[in-house]
Amino acid sequence: MKKTHKDKKNSSEETHEELQSYHIPVLLNEVVENINIKPDGIYVDCTFGGGGHAKEILKQLNAEGKLFAFDQDADAQKNVPDDQRVVFVPNNFRHLQRFMRLHKTNQVDGILADLGVSSHQFDEADRGFSTRFDAALDMRMDRRQALTASDVVNTYDEQRLHRLFEQYGEVTNAKTLARTIVQLRTSTSLKTISNFKSALHAVVKGNPNKYFAQVFQALRIEVNDELGVLRELLEQVPPLLKPGGRVAIITFHSLEDRLVKNFFRKGSFAEEEINPFENTVSSSTLQIITRKPITATPEEIKRNPRSRSAKLRVAEKI
Ligand SMILES: C[S@@+](CC[C@H](N)C(=O)[O-])C[C@H]1O[C@@H](n2cnc3c(N)ncnc32)[C@H](O)[C@@H]1O
Repeated sequence: MKKTHKDKKNSSEETHEELQSYHIPVLLNEVVENINIKPDGIYVDCTFGGGGHAKEILKQLNAEGKLFAFDQDADAQKNVPDDQRVVFVPNNFRHLQRFMRLHKTNQVDGILADLGVSSHQFDEADRGFSTRFDAALDMRMDRRQALTASDVVNTYDEQRLHRLFEQYGEVTNAKTLARTIVQLRTSTSLKTISNFKSALHAVVKGNPNKYFAQVFQALRIEVNDELGVLRELLEQVPPLLKPGGRVAIITFHSLEDRLVKNFFRKGSFAEEEINPFENTVSSSTLQIITRKPITATPEEIKRNPRSRSAKLRVAEKI
């Protein structure tokens, strides 16, 4: 099986190029400009990955500054710089406050989350995220977790599968796909990417690459509970930020962006429209800095097509 990520020669030879091959950070300048870095501040990068954003934040910090870097994928740890200002937390950011308390830090000056998977996870065949390779249907960012994509496909009932393909993947024939999976799985193994794709070729609508990309996206969001962890993270942001501290979130999916937008606006996930004739008081302790989300420039999209769907929203603790 071909793996595209280069083997590391020697950890001391970590080069800029290698960090780039792990993951190219999106909206890098936009994040750094908008997070208002105080040189002696305490920052949290909830999604360290290849450390591209973290590296830029560290450049702006002096010797008193500190960066807590979370990543639930053990692979990210090899990118942690040898820098005493950095504390790596190899855990899910849904436990943000718990780990910050463990590190005796009650409040911070800035929080960044660059959601979703890294290019490394996507390009590493045996992680099972990409439709381009064959491997077990895995898709766990944290391999200590029990639930895999194969479990979802082989154990969820039809209604649950239907809902997740429709909501998380916007799969046009989500109901037919769910029904076919439930029928097929009693007689056919649906445990690997190639099993899954070939068993389901008859239900594909339109371009198969695009179709399976949407199906895989839905499975990935479910396996990693990406919307659940985002909700939990957002709720922990206001109490953790110092007044004047900023939070920056980069999303890649409209469901995530909507959660961030509503939470920044109202301090809750409520969807209902605000009645313009009613004097509704927002319970948010955040002030929005980016009225409209910041998106990548055409140059960045050309350089890094992954940035195409990125949306950055920033807010400040009042
Ligand atoms: C898009 S990449 C971040 C890339 C990073 N900003 C950079 O410049 O290289 C997302 C990373 O966050 C991690 N991640 C995603 N969700 C997480 C969560 N709930 N808790 C901890 N880490 C998470 C993934 O494992 C992945 O390494």
